[in-house]
Amino acid sequence: MHTTGFTLWFTGLSGSGKSTLAARLLTHFRSAGYPVELLDGDEVRTHLSKDLGFSREDRDTNVRRIGWVAKLLSRNGVIALTAAISPYLETREEVRRSIGNFVEIFTDCPLATLAGRDVKGLYRKAMAGEIPNFTGVSDPYEPPPHPDITVRTDRETVEESLAKILTWLDARGWIRKEGACPNPP
Ligand code: ADX
Repeated sequence: MHTTGFTLWFTGLSGSGKSTLAARLLTHFRSAGYPVELLDGDEVRTHLSKDLGFSREDRDTNVRRIGWVAKLLSRNGVIALTAAISPYLETREEVRRSIGNFVEIFTDCPLATLAGRDVKGLYRKAMAGEIPNFTGVSDPYEPPPHPDITVRTDRETVEESLAKILTWLDARGWIRKEGACPNPP
């Protein structure tokens, strides 16, 4: 195995584009022959974190579990993609320190836009007081002060955001933006 493993850690509000971008990267890396896995928040919560709710303690536990799996993957040459809100700065920093090759990608989008889109219908419910502790409405989100990459998902197309991420990784020498994985496992 000669590929460099790393973790692409998406953070941002619900509906801000984490899962969409991570899923597109999963397809992209797979077809280029890179070893890659996706730990998506909604999916993790139906398996690995089925026991958890949305208190600060439970969210931190969820984020630490995702971080632990991502660490095991990336230290074995796999590209680990994660897509969970991960609202707390301190916990993200803890995960960053433990993983090492960690790229924080902030999916930045104004709350008003997210509430307007409301893909899952959750913002309407949260604003009506029907979902307690909803991130961005009645629960905190601590934006990263120094993310490695910021994508403005209200202003950029998915293609533009993907290109920005791939260019960043290519400049680091961790992937080749065009073409196949140079050292397939
Ligand atoms: S995290 O805070 O622990 O990182 P995670 O990404 O796993 O959150 O889960 C967020 C998803 O759970 C949201 O996209 C939404 O579909 C759902 N959800 C249900 N209740 C809440 C809530 N109170 N706050 C945020 N998201 C919620």
